[in-house]
This record gives sequence, C-alpha cells and structure tokens, in this order.
Amino acid sequence: MKRGKRISIIGAGSVGSTVAFSLVMQGTVHEILLRDSKPDIAWGKALDMSQAAAVIRGHTKVRVAEKPQDMAESDIVVIAAGCPRKPGMSREDLLLINAETVRSISREIKEHCANSIVIVITNPLDAMTYVALRETGFDRRQVMGMAGLLDSSRMAGFIYEKLGYGSGQIRATVLGGHGDTMVPMHRYSTIAGVPITDLLKREEIDEIVRRTQRGGAEIVGYLQTGSAYYAPAIATAMMCEAILRDSKQIYSCALRLEGEYGCHDIVTGIPAVLGANGVEKLIEVTMNEDERTLFDQSVRGITRMIDKLIEKKFY
Ligand code: 2OP
Repeated sequence: MKRGKRISIIGAGSVGSTVAFSLVMQGTVHEILLRDSKPDIAWGKALDMSQAAAVIRGHTKVRVAEKPQDMAESDIVVIAAGCPRKPGMSREDLLLINAETVRSISREIKEHCANSIVIVITNPLDAMTYVALRETGFDRRQVMGMAGLLDSSRMAGFIYEKLGYGSGQIRATVLGGHGDTMVPMHRYSTIAGVPITDLLKREEIDEIVRRTQRGGAEIVGYLQTGSAYYAPAIATAMMCEAILRDSKQIYSCALRLEGEYGCHDIVTGIPAVLGANGVEKLIEVTMNEDERTLFDQSVRGITRMIDKLIEKKFY
C-alpha cells in the first residue's frame, strides 16, 4: 500500500507542537513525527494531538521520532528547534547558539531525509536557513525559511485593524530579512485590488510598517518568556499544505539568491511559488529607489550575520 504524506518536526516546543496541531486540524498529512531532546514531553503532546485528530474524525497520526532514522522518507522536515527570544533580545542575539543546533539537525536531515523539503523556522531565520542549506548541501529549491508569510499576514492584520473593513480581502507583501529591517511593501499591498495608498494616509501606513517590523518583539514584550507561536505555526502549516497539495501558491519565503535581485549566496525573503518540488519559481519584484534602498539595507544585515558565522569559524 502506498504510504501517505509524512512530515517530521524537529523541536516540539511551542512553535513546533503548534505547527503539528495546525497540520492535524488541516488534515492534509497522514503522519507527523515529533523529534525533541525531551522525548517524554513530545510523546505526551503526540498522544494528545492524535486524540484531537480523532475528535475531528481526522486521520493524522502523531508519533515521536526517538532516533533520527525514524524520520526517514519524510516529505517535509520542519526545523523549529532552538532558543526563542527573551525581552530585550533581537533575533540576531540568538545567532551563535541556534547555529550550532541547526547545524547538527541539518546533518541528521542530510543523512536520513535526503529527499525531503526543509522548512526552517528557527531564528535568526535568514541566517539559520543559510546554515541549513550549507549543512545539508541540498538544492536551494528544497530549503526555505518561514517568515515572509508570517510578516505579510501581520501587516494584513494591522491594515485591517486600522481600516476596520476588508478582512480576508487584504493582501500585504513583506520582503527582505526576518528582522527589524524587513521591508513591508505598501505599494504592493491591496484590499480587494485597491492599493492601500488610496485608502490610508501616509502617517497611517508608516505606523503599520513600523508595527509590522516590530510585530514579533511586541508579542515577546507581552509573553516575557518566549515568542509568538500561533501565527508562525499556521504560516508554516500553510506552506506545507501548498507543497503537499502542489497548489503553486505564492508566499514570501527566505530563499538563497543566486543572482536574483543582484544578490549572490545570501538568504533573504522574496515571493516564491510553492509546489510539489518545493520552491518552483523565485519571483523578482520591481522595486522603486526607496524600496531598493531598504531591501539592500536588510540584505546587508543578513550578510553581517553570515560574516559573523565565518569569523567564528562556522564556515
Ligand atoms: C516572530 O516574529 C518568532 O520570529 C518570530 O514572532
């Protein structure tokens, strides 16, 4: 019998387990494997989620991958392991700690899941996606970071908050790195096709842009002990769904650029078509001078992090 779709999630903390739960509720996947340094906690969550699947008359089984080889033949592997931010920390502060974690996980993926598509969530996102690409040696279409969909959705949420109408019809676009210099592209943001610049004042748009850039930090400030997980998790589940259903949806993802946007060997957020082969197409968006300046500034921040990894003899 042909087996159904399998997704492994490495790191069963708040983000990883909420990705699993979102996938269980979606019902696209047959089997989810949780891999965590605390297998007992992971088993508790796995059983709870399998029982949630039964409540909705779903079919998804959730188990624990006790050994890396248990993840073999995964269609997708999600990397959600690593330390989250604490108040006052930037995503960059996590660079060296999480790079070690992502490096060892990527080696397991390379050995046991060579044909899988990898989605990275660990921060600092663009640099960690770079580490996963380097360590697995996978084709760049197989490895992507989740953040653009999250940041774009946050921006859409803030537009809705400001306008008070149009929810579900708002399309926002955020490019560049998943950090304070991300580039919310208000020129490409619309409500039922109407540009937001026709509906909101310049100061209102500026406020939306600033709040989007600090969207993650705002939540860390409230939670104190960790960062956001519901929106990051459902964004990841949506990317998994686009891949498993081969639906060719366009989402902003962190990808390695090899000449696109005039950049080489750097990971940053751009729109891409997701389908059965992972990244099916990278899209180059036309930018005006201001947008290009901000995009370049964001890319420079990511280059600095990669240079730091090189300086610390990571590469
Ligand atoms: C966020 O933006 C955790 O980076 C993640 O909330």
